[in-house]
Amino acid sequence: MGKATGKGLVLGIDIGGSGIKGAPVDLGRGEFATERIRIDTPARATPEAVAEVVAEVAAGFTDEVGEDSPVGVTVPAVVHHGVTKSAANIDDSWIDADADALFTRVLGRPVVVMNDADAAGHAEMRFGAGRDTEGVVLLTTLGTGIGSALFLNGQLVPNTELGHLELDGEEAEHRAAASVREDEDLSWEEWAERLQRFYRHVEDLFWPDLIIVGGGVSKKADKFLPLLDLRTEIVPATLRNDAGIIGAAWQASH
Ligand code: BGC
Repeated sequence: MGKATGKGLVLGIDIGGSGIKGAPVDLGRGEFATERIRIDTPARATPEAVAEVVAEVAAGFTDEVGEDSPVGVTVPAVVHHGVTKSAANIDDSWIDADADALFTRVLGRPVVVMNDADAAGHAEMRFGAGRDTEGVVLLTTLGTGIGSALFLNGQLVPNTELGHLELDGEEAEHRAAASVREDEDLSWEEWAERLQRFYRHVEDLFWPDLIIVGGGVSKKADKFLPLLDLRTEIVPATLRNDAGIIGAAWQASH
């Protein structure tokens, strides 16, 4: 990838359970303008500790985006008007943290904080598998948990949190996240049965026109998507793990 310079680059940063990753995004093309930087997520990942690492990542890109430009940051939590409201797979201290204000203070520049799946959804809708798709589109991310992003004619309904739907007395993400496939050593067929249950339920509730499947495992989509029997068209995300960073940057610039 060539190094783009000057205007049009916006920094996106994705906070995950194991790594905090950022890159300047070329929003004309919907791709990273340089290599990303990744730093391990601190062991006790409180908002304050994470904000320090996010600032370190941002400091690595002053040549590309300067020191004052807005930054988009994703978190694996409900984000209600800048305040994080849940902590399913992160430290409990995120509940009711004013993440927007904290990050803006620590980074000394405007920061827009958003849910990770919502950010990935924006990226896929603008630059990826959902590009130019009208109607109801649902993106799900299969990773440590299950994230979701719901769009109507390209407009996001934030914080849908479909990974926490209860199925057979258990939260869907505790049965069917990609991490569960690895932890329980499930075959693709066994995992697909659980996904089938989840996606069938979701399509019965929302009647989407398209379902997009993101998360790192989407690069192996041919192993499990063909095993699903759904009425809705279901396709792999095209931006995979870059989607969070790209969507964060997109959101920060809007
Ligand atoms: C969280 C969501 C998040 C998803 C993917 C879920 O446990 O509740 O907010 O989008 O994991 O990280």
